[in-house]
Amino acid sequence: MKFFVDTADTKEIAELAATGLLDGVTTNPSLIAKSGRRIQEVIAEICAVVPGPVSAEVAATDYDGMIREARVLRAIAHNVTVKLPLTPAGLRACRTLTDEGVMTNVTLCFSAGQALLAAKAGATFVSPFVGRLDDIGHDGMALIGDIVAIYRNYPALRTEVLVASVRGPLHVIAAARLGAHVATLPPAVLRSLYQHPLTDKGLAGFLADWAKTGQTIA
Ligand code: G3P
Repeated sequence: MKFFVDTADTKEIAELAATGLLDGVTTNPSLIAKSGRRIQEVIAEICAVVPGPVSAEVAATDYDGMIREARVLRAIAHNVTVKLPLTPAGLRACRTLTDEGVMTNVTLCFSAGQALLAAKAGATFVSPFVGRLDDIGHDGMALIGDIVAIYRNYPALRTEVLVASVRGPLHVIAAARLGAHVATLPPAVLRSLYQHPLTDKGLAGFLADWAKTGQTIA
């Protein structure tokens, strides 16, 4: 499973990129707004740190505007992935950009039918929002299972399921069990995957016993 981080905080991204575990980055207009920076500046900085796909979302809602903005975003760096909302205009723009060889990420996906349309539009990635479905009492992970199963029926489909709106490590594990290609994680969720009290306790025990040997490895 590929791990992307879902933030526009370049300090967090640089720290996590240094772990060697980061395969890409996703942003959205809310995350860019939170950064307080111009999108071109922050996306350029992210693309210089993370060689994998970096999603930058258009703000236009019409086809022509999306294409215009996509070209601005795509010109920033070769690894920019243009993020498009799952609307008729967004899917039409996805088809155009995919045919031009531009990586695309169709976002705000909340149903298997929408995911089928994203695949037919040739999206590189489709982003089903698990957490926001859970938030309203729907089963977000059931949607992931549906999409993965449906895509598996059509090997010619090249769209990767990019699990988004992740709320915790259990979402990551469940998505991996289902065979989702990518999960995009808030930094805190990515860090939480490291943590287990028995790891901490076990390491403390090893170090305490090692100290008693008086040895050094040199
Ligand atoms: O990239 C999509 C993701 O940022 C949405 O997450 O927590 O706002 O539902 P959330």
